[in-house]
Amino acid sequence: MTPLDRDTLRRIVHAEMPNLPTESHDASTGMPLTVVGFGPEEVLAALDCMLTTRVTMGAEVRAFEAEWAAWCGRSQGVMVNSGSSANLLMLEGLVEIGRLKRGDEVLVPAVGWSTTLFPIVQAGLVPVIVDVHPRSLCLDPVAARAAVTSRTKAVMPVHLLGQAADCDYDGLIVLEDACAAHGAMQGGRRIGSLGDAATFSFFFSHHITTVEGGIIVTDDPLLADAMRSLRAHGWVRERSDRAELIARNPDIDSRFLFVSAGYNLRPTDMAGAFGRVQLRRLDAWVARRRANHAEWCAALAGTPGVSVFPELPGTGHAGFAFAMLVDGERRPLMQRLEAAGIETRPISGSNLVRQPAFQRLLEQGAEVRIPGPLVVADSVHERGFFVGNSHAFGPEHGRRLAEVVKAWSS
Ligand SMILES: Cc1ncc(COP(=O)(O)O)c(C=O)c1O
Repeated sequence: MTPLDRDTLRRIVHAEMPNLPTESHDASTGMPLTVVGFGPEEVLAALDCMLTTRVTMGAEVRAFEAEWAAWCGRSQGVMVNSGSSANLLMLEGLVEIGRLKRGDEVLVPAVGWSTTLFPIVQAGLVPVIVDVHPRSLCLDPVAARAAVTSRTKAVMPVHLLGQAADCDYDGLIVLEDACAAHGAMQGGRRIGSLGDAATFSFFFSHHITTVEGGIIVTDDPLLADAMRSLRAHGWVRERSDRAELIARNPDIDSRFLFVSAGYNLRPTDMAGAFGRVQLRRLDAWVARRRANHAEWCAALAGTPGVSVFPELPGTGHAGFAFAMLVDGERRPLMQRLEAAGIETRPISGSNLVRQPAFQRLLEQGAEVRIPGPLVVADSVHERGFFVGNSHAFGPEHGRRLAEVVKAWSS
């Protein structure tokens, strides 16, 4: 394509996508769960991959991995096709390098996403399901530490809906599920840099998106190498030690040399290109989400019958979504909000132990341990919900939300 054609294409794409990504939203129309967070620049970056026919995982993914890892303050990034795949790959990678052994216990909060919990079982590990803390709705650190036995080797805190979870667990491998917490902070550090490894999701509705996508970050080059093999069929390509592995297997064509029992969880290069444009927007967007969170908490503080969850001292909330817990029956308030155009959802998978999939795991013989009562998780399950937060929302959305909640409360 000539430069002139490129200019024409650029003009056409911009003309086709006016006002995208959505930067502001009219609160009088309600509060959707999410707004469209990409625009012509992302589409042009992806189109460029397609026009040059360099569509499979390549230079754009590698560049995005390096940029995302640096943004998190880590040395290694391994991009995959979803946050769920990131959780699976992180755990399988640790098993592959022997830092975790099949049968080891992994502490995990009862409230999280389904694919926080399931990959622990899929990787042959034993989830130890612990209650969440009533102020953060993240893994309760006291209950978690009390649940540790000689078999417990790792802990997987979830930074729930953008709230930074405690990651201080001496003697355990700390695996952060930061899939919905891009840009959350703790002790002056970005989450994703607190544990041994961390995962993020770039699904459409997250802080930034690659449509579908995810990444694992770590400072452990051995783990990164293992994950690079497991991500792509188990083959040797992309590993930093491939020359040595190839030399050790002279009878096998190095182009199809498989060194671990892998999957295929690769992203496309379009996703990498998308992510690189998105990353440039992220800091400003997280700042707006965080400000919304603080303003909405203030607007609702003291409203009888409903609790909100301000960011914890020493942390920065990433404002993925805005959680509320109702004293009694939650449905009437959720119905009022929906009637006002404010979309609601349960708090992630809520108490995952109460999901039918968990019962299926038990029926299939999965080993799990539940060391104590899940009182807070049950309250989240029965009385909790969230509404959307977005970089495109502002104080007016908080006022409308508070208006509906207060009308219900009075
Ligand atoms: C905490 C958490 N973990 C994992 C995931 C899975 O990410 P994905 O939808 O990209 O598979 C999500 C999705 O929202 C999540 O919230």
